[in-house]
Amino acid sequence: MGGVVELNHVIVKHYVTVLRSKETSTPEFRHALETLGSFLAKEMTCELALRESPVETPITSAMGFQISEKVGIVPILRAGLALVRPFRELIPNACVLHLGMYRNEETAQPVAYYNKLAESPEVETAFLVDPMLATGGSAVAAINELRRAGVEQIVFGCVIAAPEGIAVVRQKFPEVKIVACSIDEGLNDINYIVPGLGDAGDRYFGTV
Ligand code: PRP
Ligand code: URA
Repeated sequence: MGGVVELNHVIVKHYVTVLRSKETSTPEFRHALETLGSFLAKEMTCELALRESPVETPITSAMGFQISEKVGIVPILRAGLALVRPFRELIPNACVLHLGMYRNEETAQPVAYYNKLAESPEVETAFLVDPMLATGGSAVAAINELRRAGVEQIVFGCVIAAPEGIAVVRQKFPEVKIVACSIDEGLNDINYIVPGLGDAGDRYFGTV
């Protein structure tokens, strides 16, 4: 696996712009972020393993397919919660394994405060989701936790990625595929993404 994919779809471009605008209200922001989540979910799930599964149609017998992997959706709290529902709609029996992390405002280092991975029912593929990939610190810490929990396949999905964060994740985990709706210009001096959208968690949960 591995590699970096930037989505190229007119609806994605439209809703990324909605997210960026400082005029966007919390309900509009929530709708745009969850809509983008379904585009991420479609792209990130496209390489799941299938097994053949015969099916009887009203007309005849045919060969069909079923997803054959145990799938976990892993949101990085808080903002990653916004992206869970679109994945559950595609894969209703996937488990959701929460990882709580926030960035220290001065150092930008991730601080872990919650981890539900120990209770993972032997997940084979994890879809790790967070709207923002900035310095990459949170993503790297989360991937380390997933590796410690024994998860083999990891796909990371975000809405906005900074090249700096992509480089850090690629350097440490070249096998992890990264899917982003937009790869932006870079980070500013306080490690926010430029042009970005501001603080994703605050805007999604209305805590600005
Ligand atoms: C944001 C974002 C990521 C992290 C990205 O979370 O949702 O988790 O920052 O930054 P990094 O790549 O530099 O680690 P934040 O710390 O604002 O927490 P929140 O989701 O609770 O608002
Ligand atoms: N976290 C955010 O929510 N936004 C950024 O630009 C960087 C990290």
